[in-house]
Amino acid sequence: MQDTLTHPLDAPDAKPFEVAAQAAEDIARLTGVDHHDIALTLGSGWGKAAELIGETVATIPATEVTGFSKPALEGHVGTLRSIRTASGKNVLVIGARTHYYEGHGVRRVVHSVRTAAATGAKIMVLTNGAGGVRETWKPGQPVLISDHINLTADSPLEGATFIDLTDLYAKRLRDIARSIDPTLDEGVYTQFRGPHYETPAEVQMAKTIGGHIVGMSTALEAIAAREAGMEILGFSLITNLAAGIQKTPLSHAEVIEAGQQAEPVISALLARVIEAL
Ligand code: HPA
Repeated sequence: MQDTLTHPLDAPDAKPFEVAAQAAEDIARLTGVDHHDIALTLGSGWGKAAELIGETVATIPATEVTGFSKPALEGHVGTLRSIRTASGKNVLVIGARTHYYEGHGVRRVVHSVRTAAATGAKIMVLTNGAGGVRETWKPGQPVLISDHINLTADSPLEGATFIDLTDLYAKRLRDIARSIDPTLDEGVYTQFRGPHYETPAEVQMAKTIGGHIVGMSTALEAIAAREAGMEILGFSLITNLAAGIQKTPLSHAEVIEAGQQAEPVISALLARVIEAL
């Protein structure tokens, strides 16, 4: 475990991709699995998927891997797991997300994604719990992310790194997901900084500019995943309708509860999608 002063990503001359390469070596050593094919970040509500994807080869505390920080939040598991699917693919399950709102900087936010790429993963599956802007959506419903709007005013890219974000959430992968569940709807994920939930006015703004989902994670991670050359599949669990769309106040307890209720169904769906990738 690293504290703020000695964290390997915080030094001004830190090289994020070298730290990620070191982390990938740690994972290979600690799990005994020398490369992974797919990486999966589990957000709130998606945790049970890890049980259903295949056989767990190793589970390691994220804090033993270079550059990973302690989980900030209850409900976010601080482990990394290597799972082997029935068809023989190695899946790295990341249960240790660092959120932008924690204030440790964007390098730490995307370290898990860069590490996933360094383990060899070609596909990054990002999941989250989020608010729904579309009135027809119901809490407990999973939706595919079709694109995003990044309202953090930040980027994981450093220097003059110009990366194309067309088809960021690959249509190819969304089509595979829909071949498993044709009822899956999709929408544009709008990342706010958080950790406060949005005001109703901000939700209306998100809607006006083309957003359908509001959340506090995925967009920055997706950009880093694309930079690292991975194909991205994004899923949001709608844990609540966004502020002002639902008439009652939002609460973290409500978000966690919706996640827990939906967990068996969406985890089973996710496991089937992973097997089909
Ligand atoms: N807004 C932002 N993040 C969220 C929400 C929301 O309504 N619900 C769960 N995460």
